[in-house]
Amino acid sequence: MHDPHFCGLDYLEAAVLAVSSEGALLYFNPAADDLLGLKGEQLGLPLAACLSPESAIVAAVGTALAKNVSITEYELLLPVAHGDAYVTLNAAPIELAGDTAALVEIRQIDQQRRIANEERLQAQQQANRELIRNLAHEIKNPLGGIRGAAQLLSAELPNPHLKEYTQVIIEESQRLQSLLDRLLTPHRLPQLSELSIHEVLERVRSVVLAETPNGLAVRRDYDTSLPNLIGDREQLIQALLNIVRNAVQAMAGVGEIVLRTRIARQVTLNRKRFPLAIQVMIEDNGPGIPEALKDTLFYPLVSGRPGGTGIGLHLAHTFVNQHHGSIEFDSRPGETCFTLLLPLNGWQSARTLQGSTP
Ligand SMILES: Nc1ncnc2c1ncn2[C@@H]1O[C@H](COP(=O)(O)OP(=O)(O)OP(=O)(O)O)[C@@H](O)[C@H]1O
Ligand SMILES: [Mg+2]
Repeated sequence: MHDPHFCGLDYLEAAVLAVSSEGALLYFNPAADDLLGLKGEQLGLPLAACLSPESAIVAAVGTALAKNVSITEYELLLPVAHGDAYVTLNAAPIELAGDTAALVEIRQIDQQRRIANEERLQAQQQANRELIRNLAHEIKNPLGGIRGAAQLLSAELPNPHLKEYTQVIIEESQRLQSLLDRLLTPHRLPQLSELSIHEVLERVRSVVLAETPNGLAVRRDYDTSLPNLIGDREQLIQALLNIVRNAVQAMAGVGEIVLRTRIARQVTLNRKRFPLAIQVMIEDNGPGIPEALKDTLFYPLVSGRPGGTGIGLHLAHTFVNQHHGSIEFDSRPGETCFTLLLPLNGWQSARTLQGSTP
């Protein structure tokens, strides 16, 4: 499996095989091993003997080699190691050490859909961010004027009873002002430093415990061997605090939260492969996320809580994104888990910030 011609393919999420002009299996990557159940001893054997001779893969390779063309089959139902799977299969001729071999790539359709959904969410988030930034700037100036005028009016009013009304204008414009300030926060440049994710989590833990009087247990399950990561400490605290606070609010302050950390290997985030990432899980045993919110949970102004502004998770998503990471959730009544993946070398490999302007 460790042919130097193919070493870069070992890390792909798609299953990849190479077959010689004679039809012998030359190489397969670990994803092909998982999908098709191939074994190292099968290298060098005819592909038709490794898979079934009627396999659509064998047929596609035969045609690609015989006609010297690239073949793609969409929505193909393929028998795989654990049942059947819908896949997209591509077989293409390649020149390999003087021979014309065939390179086969097989992608499970769910995997493709997931990537497409992630890309759609990214694009939507970017459009949202711009819309919000423009809108917030447009609202801020007149709002300042309204508040200033109400303060002047308040000072001039002859009847103190009337001040009640100006006070409402002043307080409500103050509330709008702080909403706009929160919406505009992600646009500062992150300040990077080396940090321990556990230090960040401990800080979040002590803040929520201090805010919640009784009845809340915050348990830790840390992998203490995790290395430090490069990130913006304040942004990570804010992102995790928003998630943990939501859990506390959903449980009305009574229940258990677990903060878990693990190492994750070979993760693909935003179509980029990272050898190592830190996985942070925040679990709660509250009522679960309302079904109606699930599809748009990370969008701004989506809230299921009286008095909620619906910015908390949008900010968390933006901050995690700026760390080249991902954030997902799984939720049912009694069990909600938010999972963050933060790549360990995200900054070294891509120093530009995503969707952020000074
Ligand atoms: N752990 C959770 N359990 C149940 N519901 C949750 C959980 N986390 C989030 N939610 C739901 O998702 C909604 C959106 O959360 P988000 O933090 O974005 O906004 P918010 O909490 O309503 O307002 P704020 O801007 O003050 O954070 C919440 O109102 C809540 O209905
Ligand atoms: Mg919130």
